[in-house]
Amino acid sequence: MPDRKATCCANANIAFIKYWGNRDARLRMPLNDSLSMTLAELMTETTVLFDEALNEDQIVVGETEPAEAARARVVTQLDRIRAEAKLQTKARVMSRNNFPTGAGLASSASAFAALTLAATHAAGLELSERGLSILARQGSGSAARSIPGGFVEWLAATNTTSTSEQSFARVIAAPDFWDLRDVVVVVSHDEKKVGSSDGHQAAMTSPFFSERLNRLPERFHRARRALLARDLNALGTIIEIEAVELHFIAMTSRPPIFYWSPEMVRVIDAARAWRESGLPVYFTLDAGPNVHLICEAKDAETVAGNARQIPGVLEVIPSGVGGPVHLVENHLF
Ligand code: PMV
Repeated sequence: MPDRKATCCANANIAFIKYWGNRDARLRMPLNDSLSMTLAELMTETTVLFDEALNEDQIVVGETEPAEAARARVVTQLDRIRAEAKLQTKARVMSRNNFPTGAGLASSASAFAALTLAATHAAGLELSERGLSILARQGSGSAARSIPGGFVEWLAATNTTSTSEQSFARVIAAPDFWDLRDVVVVVSHDEKKVGSSDGHQAAMTSPFFSERLNRLPERFHRARRALLARDLNALGTIIEIEAVELHFIAMTSRPPIFYWSPEMVRVIDAARAWRESGLPVYFTLDAGPNVHLICEAKDAETVAGNARQIPGVLEVIPSGVGGPVHLVENHLF
C-alpha cells in the first residue's frame, strides 16, 4: 500500500504579461501566452491524505472550511486526479498561505499548484513538470505557472488543432538568472468582489479586447527579450502598459469590473515619482487592489522603506525569485 499522504509547498507568481480571457473556460485554456516571475516569499503549503474512512472530502484552508464555490473547485480538482489515478477514496486536505488570500496576490496559483502536486503524489501518480502544469492549469489558470520555478512562460496553444496537452508553463530562466524583487504593497486584505474566473469571461465583452489580443504576441516577445537581456528599463516599461491594460479591459467589460482603487493609484503615483528621482522601480498589478513594485535587489530595501511611508499601506512584502513546487517532509496534520 503506497503512502497516501503528501505535503507540498508552492510559490505564488506575478504575471508580467497577464492571462486574461479563456478560449476554453472549462479547461482553462487561455487566449494568449503569459510570462511571470515566481515569488519566493508568498507560498502555500498543502497536505493531502486519501483516507478510506472518509465519506466525503474534508477541506480546510487556514483555520476554516472554504465557502461552497471554493470547496467545489477543490473537489473538482481532486476528482480529476482520482480519475487519472483510478481511485475512489475521499481526501482530507489542509492548506495554509503565508500571505493574504483572495486580494490579488495569486493565492489560487500557489494553492492549486500545491494541491496538484500533493494530491497526485498521495494518489501514487508520478507526473512530469509539464503534466503537473497542465493539471494545475485546470484548477486555476495561473497555477500552471506556479509549477516550474524562476521566470516562467505559459504557452497558450491557440491553433485550432491545439489540445489541452499543449497548454503548459515552462521555465525560461532559473531563479538565480536575475536577482529581481517584487515588493508587494498590500493596501487591502479584502477578498475581491469579482473572482478572476468571472473576470476572464467578462473580458470578451470589452470592445477593446480584440485589439488587446492583436497586440499581445509582439508585447509578449518584447517582454521576454527584455527579461532575458536583464533590461529592467525595457521590461518595466512593458509591464506597466500591460498592467494598466488589464484593468482597462476589466473596467470596459459589460458590466464594468473595478479592481482599480484610490489606494492603488496613490502607490502607482509614488512609484513613478521615485523613478523620476532616479530609483529604477516599475509597477504591475493583478486583479486586485495591491501593487507589485518590481526592482533589482540593490534597490529593494529603499523601495520597501518608501512604500511603508505611503498612507493607506497595510503591509509591504519584499520577495525574491522563487523555485518550483516541491514536496516537503512536515505534514500539516
Ligand atoms: O488564475 P486566475 O484565474 O486566478 O487568473 C489570474 C489572472 C491574473 O492574475 C489577473 C493575471 C495572471 O496572469 O496571473
